[in-house]
Amino acid sequence: MRTLLLLPSLAAALLSPAVQAQQSPQTPPPQPKQVNYDEAAIPPYALPELLRTPAGVEIKTATDWIQKRRPAVLSLYEQHVFGKTPTQWGKVVFETLAVKKDALEGKATRKLVRISLADYPKWQGLELMLHIPNEAKGPVPCFVGPNFGGNHAVSPEPDVPLSTRWMRQGKDDAVANNRATEKGRGTEAKRWPLDLAMAEGFAVATYYYGDVEPDHTDGWKDGLRGTMSKNGSQTEWKEGDWGAIGAWAWGLSRIADYLATEPAVDAKKLAVIGHSRLGKTSLWAGAQDRRFKVVVSNNSGEGGAALMRRNIGETTAVITKAFPHWFTKTYSSYANNESACPVDSHMLIALAAPRAVYIASAVEDRWADPKGEFLSGLHAEPAFNLFGKKGYGVAEQPAIDTPVGDTVAYHIRTGIHDVTRYDWEQYLRFARRHLNQPE
Ligand code: GCU
Repeated sequence: MRTLLLLPSLAAALLSPAVQAQQSPQTPPPQPKQVNYDEAAIPPYALPELLRTPAGVEIKTATDWIQKRRPAVLSLYEQHVFGKTPTQWGKVVFETLAVKKDALEGKATRKLVRISLADYPKWQGLELMLHIPNEAKGPVPCFVGPNFGGNHAVSPEPDVPLSTRWMRQGKDDAVANNRATEKGRGTEAKRWPLDLAMAEGFAVATYYYGDVEPDHTDGWKDGLRGTMSKNGSQTEWKEGDWGAIGAWAWGLSRIADYLATEPAVDAKKLAVIGHSRLGKTSLWAGAQDRRFKVVVSNNSGEGGAALMRRNIGETTAVITKAFPHWFTKTYSSYANNESACPVDSHMLIALAAPRAVYIASAVEDRWADPKGEFLSGLHAEPAFNLFGKKGYGVAEQPAIDTPVGDTVAYHIRTGIHDVTRYDWEQYLRFARRHLNQPE
């Protein structure tokens, strides 16, 4: 098998060796003492070939990509990284819990909808919060993404019910005894600039990721995975079984199911978005579910957009030790042995082709390896080229706060690990450009 050899660059302007990157407030990051932040110390690596099958056949057409290579790459990603999402779950039930026509000072209609499974009543379902711009003249495009802190944390308004589910304990008092408190209201609103999305004519659909599975190693027992597995009696997870990221991504696809029934939304114009671990989730949702026409990865890092073979910032060893439940069991066998893994994240990005992908980094988020996030999009481009689509249009990371790209786009923004209004401004512009194109 031919391989593509990449030598580590010596230029590490953005990645000087210093201490840790900032993480989201909900998640005290693992802080291993020895983290490499030196580009020059990354051992040479070879990426698995994107457009050549293991038997050596070169993929030269879009048809061959769609019919042969894409299913093979998807299956490798299932087997080695995220696990296989079940194919059957029976009837999905939608129950409208509340409609507020004058949300956000009259700018939006807010709907709360419970999405549950008729065959698995033990699972309490997920609560979708949907904002639709009131000024819309017809069905609107929609961003779909999971949130970290509950719908009450995303909305700035006091009448959104507090989440009652298990929540990760942060340093502040938004969560006490692993349950949301009133102090958590609006704490994530900055990451979800609903006013901006409404003004731009986009609906926004979100759910608390813990509705599908609490984010800890035993969380599956109280979540969807446990409920669905052998009628709830599964006691361990095997190689190739799905992990929590797969379950959270599944939740996004069920929201797409609901949106197909929602007259105010144009379900042919969906963008999926996520930050950090939920950026890994949005990439995996976008890889599997082609209803997401635009896929956004915000600071998704290791296990997301960052190339796993670059030993810099967070590594496979660190992530699989701290968060084994996110992935399929097989993934941990690549700790300190990444070269044995038959995939890397350029293939995760390519799985979205020819749909549009936006990858974003932040300068101070060195833990997530901004350069590795950039490179996955760059090395995914040949898959997009098969469809006559263009990627970044540049081979080097662009200057700070300078978005680049066409069907695959990228920016590295000033600041820390976070989602900002600036990030959303770019995503909204990108989504408008791509969702208004003919199929
Ligand atoms: C930790 C983890 C990252 C993850 C991040 C987050 O820092 O190491 O992989 O992206 O949490 O989700 O906030």
